[in-house]
Amino acid sequence: MANSIDKLLNNSQEIMEDKIEAQEVIGYTADSVIELLKKSLNIHWQQTTSLSAQAVHLDRWGYKKLAEVIKADAEEEHKHAMINLKRLEFFDVDYQPLIVSPPVWKRHDMVEMIKYNLDSVREASSAERATIVAARAVGDEITANMMIPLLQGSEDGIELYESYLKLIEQMGLDNFLSIQV
Ligand SMILES: [Fe+2]
Repeated sequence: MANSIDKLLNNSQEIMEDKIEAQEVIGYTADSVIELLKKSLNIHWQQTTSLSAQAVHLDRWGYKKLAEVIKADAEEEHKHAMINLKRLEFFDVDYQPLIVSPPVWKRHDMVEMIKYNLDSVREASSAERATIVAARAVGDEITANMMIPLLQGSEDGIELYESYLKLIEQMGLDNFLSIQV
């Protein structure tokens, strides 16, 4: 009898320890989902501002075709920022003060601009992938699913900018520039 009571006590102790551990994991991971959503929001504001500026810059200097592509990209990144905001509002967390400080991109330097954009979509894709993993770890399928189109957008961006660099390597910068007019 004493033995079985001991056993019961031990079991309940183990169950309680499991629960505490589970709660700690859930608490930690839910916070990390929020932090990753804020990170994704910040990257998207950076992309929205730098791509908008690049679109105007390229249009001004005659590269109308590329300007259109970059402008559409800026608009898409703005939509992604709105999706991040919507999810943060659902969790009712503050994401202010809004400090958007994108790295400087070099004007009149096509290769540098493409590399800059490639770095940015790579950074976005790793934040988005991490958000999906963290959200799934706490059973937050909605955040995970919401992030998938954003990740798809970043991977499309990686493909696009990598293909531009490849084209420049194969056809030369001058030929690449001539088809962007
Ligand atoms: Fe995006």
